[in-house]
Amino acid sequence: MNDQNDIEKPTTVDLAAAFEESGVRDILQELDETMIGLAPVKQRIRETAALLLVDRARQQMGLSSETPTLHMSFTGNPGTGKTTVALKMADLLHRLGYVRKGHLVTVTRDDLVGQYIGHTAPKTKEVLKKAMGGVLFIDEAYYLYRPENERDYGQEAIEILLQVMENNRDDLVVIMAGYADRMDRFFNANPGFRSRMAHHIEFPDYTDAELDQIAAVMLNGLGYRFDQGGEKAMAEYIRLRRAQPHFANARSVRNALDRARLRQANRLFNEAKGPLDARALSTISEPDIRMSRVFQGGLDVDRKPVAGAA
Ligand SMILES: Nc1ncnc2c1ncn2[C@@H]1O[C@H](COP(=O)(O)OP(=O)(O)O)[C@@H](O)[C@H]1O
Ligand SMILES: [Mg+2]
Repeated sequence: MNDQNDIEKPTTVDLAAAFEESGVRDILQELDETMIGLAPVKQRIRETAALLLVDRARQQMGLSSETPTLHMSFTGNPGTGKTTVALKMADLLHRLGYVRKGHLVTVTRDDLVGQYIGHTAPKTKEVLKKAMGGVLFIDEAYYLYRPENERDYGQEAIEILLQVMENNRDDLVVIMAGYADRMDRFFNANPGFRSRMAHHIEFPDYTDAELDQIAAVMLNGLGYRFDQGGEKAMAEYIRLRRAQPHFANARSVRNALDRARLRQANRLFNEAKGPLDARALSTISEPDIRMSRVFQGGLDVDRKPVAGAA
């Protein structure tokens, strides 16, 4: 008998109290408030949180001793919130006591795989060391696997990862992220990963209306606002941008706003004849959006975009 078994175990559990005390409620609420849309993702995270709370209670009552597998895959197109939600997931796992520190280490293939023979193992192990006690987020994880190259060093990283995901699962959670179809092929070719993943969460593309809202929230967070013309132009921008190459959901919106701020600053500089008030400094207007190349080709609402306009 070890000491653990001598400690008196609780005979009942108050899940609602555990929900409050752990801070899980706060995280879920923050997720709800700060992230637009994502209803299915939020639902899955609530379910996962419930499972983990119950699991923890079962462990405390001595009903189970297994460390649950917590590795996950986040699939979806770029800019759908995978990295942002992973940060919240790391916090959640930390508050529930599943990881010691709760930090997130984000990597891609290049951080794990070396260029020369003998470089990959130390590189991968260094990253794993940094991530221990937290969450390792591997973006576009499928690039680790390059079957067309027989001696690809990625294979070495894969083998180390598989081992650590099994042996250190009480101290490290791995989240693999990327496009759904490529991830599926990656898991088919590397079933060891699939069998180690407990949760698969799919991130849908945002609707136009959701991106409008995201634009408003982001701009507000930057301490700016749209005037009426700016808001309308942004809505139009979003609808045009979606049809163009390399569209990246909320990331495209963020990039567009960054460029709009740049144009606004230049406009103020060129136009201003006297002192500017706070309102002028904080307003994104129609020309700040419409100067974008997305509108090039004389596009207006009732005309089709000119082919090739970027
Ligand atoms: N639902 C959302 N509400 C508000 N902002 C969002 C939302 N989803 C993503 N963003 C923002 O968009 C940007 C890209 O998100 P990110 O999490 O990096 O996407 P991914 O990792 O899927 O490419 C970030 O600045 C993020 O804060
Ligand atoms: Mg990302």
